[in-house]
Amino acid sequence: MKKITIETHLEVFESVDTLPKDIQELMNKAQQARENAYAPYSHFMVGAAIKLDSGEIVLGNNQENAAFPSGLCAERVAAFHAGATYPDAILKQMALTVRSLNHTVAVPTPPCGACRQVLAEYEVKQRSPIAIYFMGETGKVVKANSIKELLPLIFDNSYL
Ligand code: THU
Repeated sequence: MKKITIETHLEVFESVDTLPKDIQELMNKAQQARENAYAPYSHFMVGAAIKLDSGEIVLGNNQENAAFPSGLCAERVAAFHAGATYPDAILKQMALTVRSLNHTVAVPTPPCGACRQVLAEYEVKQRSPIAIYFMGETGKVVKANSIKELLPLIFDNSYL
């Protein structure tokens, strides 16, 4: 028997103001997108903004449904929008932010597992990493250089 230890590398920024200017702008777009979320059931609004290699920014927010599992997370709305509209584009960076109508979210809020899996697929497709920056409504921002940092032991097409 041998043991394997997997390390994750993250960077933590004290606030949006300490991010590089272009990422501040991307986070700003995610915040704007968040406010258009359709979240009447959870009251938890999520916004995502993806910067493409062309410089174009694609937005997404969570879209809920009375049949709960039929809704979709902000990250997947944004990623599928990018994939559908710009099939040859490289997804360079994603900014992600949340706001709850019930309490102030001051902790960086990472993407759910299903969204990590979907974003990982785009990294495989484009053969390059997507950097992700995530935060709550306020407070620190966490950066991962690749979705791989958030999803070790990814299931990808090499297993098919
Ligand atoms: N949600 C997202 O949009 N992204 C995530 O990564 C986690 C959860 C949404 C789904 C649902 O509309 C609400 O947040 C509460 O789970």
